[in-house]
Amino acid sequence: MTTPPTPDQSMHVDPYERGWIIAAIVLLVVFALAVAVAGAAMGVQLPAPEARVDPNTVALQGPFASPGLRELAPGKYEAYIMSQIWLFNPRDISVPKGSEITFYVTSKDVQHGFKLEGTNVNMMVIPGQVSKLTYTANKAGTYNWVCHEYCGLGHAAMFGTLTVTE
Ligand code: CUA
Repeated sequence: MTTPPTPDQSMHVDPYERGWIIAAIVLLVVFALAVAVAGAAMGVQLPAPEARVDPNTVALQGPFASPGLRELAPGKYEAYIMSQIWLFNPRDISVPKGSEITFYVTSKDVQHGFKLEGTNVNMMVIPGQVSKLTYTANKAGTYNWVCHEYCGLGHAAMFGTLTVTE
């Protein structure tokens, strides 16, 4: 019969080391909770790279050939928005209050940005990729969206508006 190995008594964790191990674990839990609260309670979403497209042909075929707002069901919309130097097409869209809008945005030239002011809708617009975010418009008003990536001379003039009607 062999005796089970005795635990190594020299395996000693310094109290300071133990303290930092616990602090690191607590921090990880705090980070995980922050992500969970942001996602579940505050509606923060990561912009998903929805699809790959060919920036040379994206304006000629598929949904971006005729960008704009489409009503899928009452109160449910999708907005296909083409970015190019230095405009968004369409530039203005309008939905009734309470509508859910899913934005699909791509670029046919350089990198742009899409930020809907006062909301969590904020994404990079990269040629070759479709960026997607969903937003529920619960408050009437006019919201500007702006390009937030410097894209050349007309960058500052590159914006559009979402009007939410009563
Ligand atoms: Cu487009 Cu800045």
